[in-house]
Amino acid sequence: MTLSIEVNGSKHSVEADPSTPLLYVLRNNLELNGAKYGCGLGQCGACTVHIDGRAVFSCLTPVGALEGRHVRTIEGLGTIEQPNPVQKAFQDEQAAQCGYCIAGMIMRAQALLDRNTTPTDEEIRVHMQPNLCRCGTHMRILRAIRRASDILTDNRSSAGVE
Ligand code: FES
Ligand code: FES
Repeated sequence: MTLSIEVNGSKHSVEADPSTPLLYVLRNNLELNGAKYGCGLGQCGACTVHIDGRAVFSCLTPVGALEGRHVRTIEGLGTIEQPNPVQKAFQDEQAAQCGYCIAGMIMRAQALLDRNTTPTDEEIRVHMQPNLCRCGTHMRILRAIRRASDILTDNRSSAGVE
C-alpha cells in the first residue's frame, strides 16, 4: 500500500507493507543509507534515527506507525563539506574505526545534546548504552560527545544565549 512518511523535512510516498521496518524503507526506498543494519533485533543501535526528536531503533519501527511523525536521519544533520557540531566533533576526535556504528552513535548523541547541551559523563554513558561499537572506540566516542557539548556551549554563549 502507499504510505506517507516525512524524513528530514521532506514528504515521501512509499509503496510498502505497513509492518516493514523503517530502516528498510530508508535504505531501499529512499536511498538514505546512513542508518545501518547491524542486528535487526534492537540490540546494537547501528540503525538509530530520530522520531519526533527521540533516538529509536529504525529496525524495530514499523513504517506504518509514522503517519504525522517527523523522522530525522544522519543525512538531515550536516554534509561532508559542512558537518554539524556533533559530526565535526566525531571527526576531530577520530571516533570511528571501521565506522559501521558511527551514524547511529551520532544520532543517539544528537538526541541527548538537543535537549541537554551540558550532559555529565554519567548522563552520556547511560544515554549511549543502547549503542554498541564492536571496534571498542567507546572512549573516543565519549570524548567526541564532550567536544560537541563544548562546541555547542561556546556557540550558545557567543550568541548571548544562557
Ligand atoms: Fe537496529 Fe541493531 S540493527 S538495533
Ligand atoms: Fe567499528 Fe564502531 S567503529 S563498530
